[in-house]
Amino acid sequence: MRYFASSPAKCIMFGEHAVVYDEPAIVMAVGLRAKVGVSPRDDSLVKISSRDLGASAMFDLSSGKAVSGDQASVEKLFPAYRAVEETAKALGKSRGAEVVIESEIPPAAGLGSSAAVAVSTIAAYARMLGEELPPERVSNIAYEAEKVVHGTPSGVDNTISSIGGFIAFRRSEGWLRIESKADFELVVGDTKIERSTKELVAKVRSLRESFPDVINPIIHAIGHISIEAAKALREGDIESVGRLMDVNHGALWALGVSHEALDRLVYAAKKAGALGAKLTGAGGGGCMIALCRPGTAEAVARAIREAGGWPMVAKPSPQGVVSWEEV
Ligand code: MEV
Repeated sequence: MRYFASSPAKCIMFGEHAVVYDEPAIVMAVGLRAKVGVSPRDDSLVKISSRDLGASAMFDLSSGKAVSGDQASVEKLFPAYRAVEETAKALGKSRGAEVVIESEIPPAAGLGSSAAVAVSTIAAYARMLGEELPPERVSNIAYEAEKVVHGTPSGVDNTISSIGGFIAFRRSEGWLRIESKADFELVVGDTKIERSTKELVAKVRSLRESFPDVINPIIHAIGHISIEAAKALREGDIESVGRLMDVNHGALWALGVSHEALDRLVYAAKKAGALGAKLTGAGGGGCMIALCRPGTAEAVARAIREAGGWPMVAKPSPQGVVSWEEV
């Protein structure tokens, strides 16, 4: 028997970085998915492999250490191993397993690939141990696993990947579904510049510590952008959503997390008719998003490609984590 789970990528429309400091964010699950297959072993070893990452490594649940695999593979797959370890801890039982990761989500690009892999690993491994966990429980376990890898995540990535849909998220309050009347298409432009979320979060923290009276108001303003954007989305006012995206990009630039390549794609999208454009996720490379009127996404995607980016139209995904088994 093999046990599977799949969960969606995320796209932060508003509020990244500020969400770490308990400001609200607006997040959408998108239809790229990370699928994980798990089968049991008769020992305490967890073998993890991912063709997309070109990595394979083995960890021992009894010591918590890697027992085989080159250093690069161990580093890439350790987050998935942490997800297995945290699931075993949360359920009070464990078993060795073969874990195979197949992800459509580009890694280190701001689309939440690591959270989606963790969420799918947890749901599939729990199912192998005989437990079908509700999405909120999967999300909580994923948060514990992500904490070790990412320092102080806000929890937004594991939440959206577990529950799917379109939400407003606030660290101290949890999430709320957004009923959006807005009719739009979203183009994601990938710079293909990989970066570390942990380092970018640390960069903002250091800037905030050096200049609290300057940086705190910017973080707070981003929270207000999310609140206004939620209103505009509910009212179907896409012009306002676009304008607020532009302001949000400017604020993120001020926090030092944009990148020349992201700015280039943002300008190209705007020139091609996007209503608004901004970086998404941690920044420093990775992806940007452009808000388009229905029927205009193709032109914006072309402009992003001509400016050196890799565009894709992001379809919303109402479905969060799902798990199943196959003989
Ligand atoms: C990363 O996807 C989003 C950040 O706000 C970090 C976090 O929320 O943990 C940059």
